[in-house]
Amino acid sequence: MKNYADLWLGYKEKKNNKGSELLKKFYLEGASDKDEVVKNAVKELKAGLKAMTGAEPEVVYGGAAPEIVIAKGTDIQDKEEYTVSLKDDGICITGKSGNAILYGVFDVLRTVACEKKVEEAYAPAKTSRPSNPLRMLNHWDNMDGSIERGYSGNSFFYVDNEIQTDERITDYARMIAAVGINAVVINNVNVKDAASYMITDRYFEKVAKLGEIFAGYGIGLYLCLNYASTIELGGLDSADPLDEKVIAWWKEKMAEVFKKIPTLKGFLVKADSEGRPGPFTYGRTQADGANMLADIVKDYGAIIIWRCFVYNCKQDWRDRKTDRARAGYDSFMPMDGDYHDNVILQIKNGPMDFQIREPISPLLGGLKKTNQMLEVQIAQEYTGHQIDVCYLIPEFKEILGFKTYCKETDDTVADIISGKTFNSRFSGIAAVTNTGNDFNWTGNYLAGANLFGFGRLAFDTELSAEDIAEEFIRMTISDDEEVVKTILGILLPSREIYERYTSPLGIGWMVRPETHYGCSVDGYEYDRWGTYHRADHLGIGVDRTDKGTGYAFQYNEPNASTYNDPEKCPDELVLFFHHLPYTHKLHSGKTVIQHIYDTHFEGYDEAKKMAADWDSLKGRLDDEIFENVRERFERQLINAREWCDQVNSYFYRKSGIEDEKGRQIW
Ligand code: GCU
Repeated sequence: MKNYADLWLGYKEKKNNKGSELLKKFYLEGASDKDEVVKNAVKELKAGLKAMTGAEPEVVYGGAAPEIVIAKGTDIQDKEEYTVSLKDDGICITGKSGNAILYGVFDVLRTVACEKKVEEAYAPAKTSRPSNPLRMLNHWDNMDGSIERGYSGNSFFYVDNEIQTDERITDYARMIAAVGINAVVINNVNVKDAASYMITDRYFEKVAKLGEIFAGYGIGLYLCLNYASTIELGGLDSADPLDEKVIAWWKEKMAEVFKKIPTLKGFLVKADSEGRPGPFTYGRTQADGANMLADIVKDYGAIIIWRCFVYNCKQDWRDRKTDRARAGYDSFMPMDGDYHDNVILQIKNGPMDFQIREPISPLLGGLKKTNQMLEVQIAQEYTGHQIDVCYLIPEFKEILGFKTYCKETDDTVADIISGKTFNSRFSGIAAVTNTGNDFNWTGNYLAGANLFGFGRLAFDTELSAEDIAEEFIRMTISDDEEVVKTILGILLPSREIYERYTSPLGIGWMVRPETHYGCSVDGYEYDRWGTYHRADHLGIGVDRTDKGTGYAFQYNEPNASTYNDPEKCPDELVLFFHHLPYTHKLHSGKTVIQHIYDTHFEGYDEAKKMAADWDSLKGRLDDEIFENVRERFERQLINAREWCDQVNSYFYRKSGIEDEKGRQIW
C-alpha cells in the first residue's frame, strides 16, 4: 500500500470516452519499443486507459526517429514536440524521441481524465511544441532530510544523510513528467555538510540510480555544487577560478563525476550569495567563476546554471544609498556577453526575493548576449507556507507577459526565456519546488495546483491560469461541476486576496523574520537584509527614482520613465518605487492610507468567503481532501486577521488618519 496520494495520476473511472473504438489501438510513430522512456509511456498509457475507461489498447510501433544531438535549446524543443492525430482505427502519437511520445501519451490521458472526447480533442490533429527548452524544478532539500523553505514534510530524497531510491521517487518522476518537466535539481542551492559529498564516492552510486530513474521519464538530473569544493573536498587553499591548481582539481573531479553519473546534465551554482563562497573572494567576476566550470563540463555536453541572487546581505539599515533591488543588475550586466555559451544565468522573477508583488527583474530584458533562465518559487515561502491558499499561476502569467522593450518585437519575458528573442543557445524556466514527503506531496492539497500549473505553463506559456486550474481540479480532486466551479472560484483570486491582506502596493516584506510566515510590519525594518519600507508619520515607500537609488533606470524605456513617475507608475508597485505621503491619491482615486485600510478589510473578508465556499463542499469530495484544506483555511483566517489588524493599526498609529468608513482599528 502506498502511503501517498496519486494526485493527477489517480486515474479514476471516467464516462465520456468509455467504449471508444479509437482507444483500442495506438500508433507510436518515431518510437522504438526498446527506448526506456517509450516503455514507461506505454505502461502509463495502458494503466491509465484501463482504469479510466476499461480500454486495453494494442500498441503499434513506427520505429525510432533518427537521434537528435542536443547542441542547443531548440534541439530539445525539436525532440520533444509531439502530434496526436486520429486514424480510422486508432490514435497516432508522433514525435522524434521518447520524451515526445511520453508527452503525447500524457496529453491523451489528460484529455480522457478531463472528460473531453478524443474525437474532438484530436481532430484536427494537435501539435504541441514546448515553449521552453528547460523546464526545471529546484529542490531545496538537505541531506539530513530537512527542506529549506519546505512546508510539506521532509525530503523524499534524503533520510539521515542517505539517498532514497524507492518507489516514491519513480512516482514523483511520473508525476512531474506528466506535466512536462524535463529537468530536476535534487539538492539545495546552499550546499553544505553532507551535500558537498554528492560529487564523491560516498554518494555516486545512489545519485546515479536517481539519474536513471529520472532518465526513464525523460528528466535530466542536475546537482547543486559547493563552489568551494576545491577547499572542502580537495584540501587546496583556494577556490580562485583562475588558479591553475583549482582548474586542474575540477578537471579531474568532473571526469570522475560524469563517469560515475552518466545521466548527469549539469550543475546549478549559488555563489557569493548569503554567505556562500564564490569568485568575489578572489577578486574575480561571476563570469570568471561560471566560465571556469562551464569550460570543464563542456566536454561532457553539460551546462552550468549560475544564479544571479547576489546582493549585500549585511547592509546597514541607516544606509539609504545601497539598494538591494539594484544588486543583481549591477553585478551581472557589466559582463553581458562574457559568459560562455554553456552557461545560463538563472534570474529570480523580481529584484528582491519572491514577494507577493515585485516588479520584474531588470536583468530580464537587460541582458542581451547571455543565456537566461527565469526562476520562480512555488514553495510558498512568502506567500503563505502552503497554509494559506495562493494559486500562483496568474502571477506567473503576468511575469511571462511583461514587455521588457529590449527589442521591437518578441520582447516579453516569455519570449526571452524561450530563447526566441536573442536566439539563445540555452534557456528556460525553473521553480523552487513545493514538495515534501507529506501524504499529498504539497501540504495543502490546493498547493498541488502550483506544482501542476508550473509544469503545464512551462511547457505551454499560452495556457490560461483558469484552464490549468480546471485541469488540476478535474484530474486531482473531482469533476463534479459544482466542485470544479467552487474551487476555481477559490483558486483564481487567491493570489490577489493574499496580496490584499498582506503588505501593500508592492512594498513587500513585513513578514516575521526568519520563518517568513505571519505579519511583522517592522520585522525587517532595522535589519541587515536591505528590505525596508521606510514608513514614518507622513508617508511610506522606497525612493528608487532618479532622486533616490536610481533603480528605475535599470529598465528599458518606456518602463524606466513609467516607474520613475508616481503619476504613471502602476498602483500595485507604487511603494516599491516611491516614498509617498499617506494622502497621495492613487489611480484608483483612493489615498494611499485609505487603500491600505480598504484592501486589508476586504482581503480578510474575501479569505472568510473562500473558507465558507470550501465548507460548502463538505460531502461532495473525498473527506480527506476536504478536511486537509478546511483545517488550513482555519489557520489562514487567523493569519489573515492578524495581518489585517496589525497592518491597519500600525499605519493608523503612524499616520493618525481615520478610516473613512469608520471600521474598527486597534
Ligand atoms: C531566500 C531564502 C533562502 C534561500 C535564498 C536563495 O533568501 O530565504 O532560504 O536560500 O532565498 O534563493 O538562495
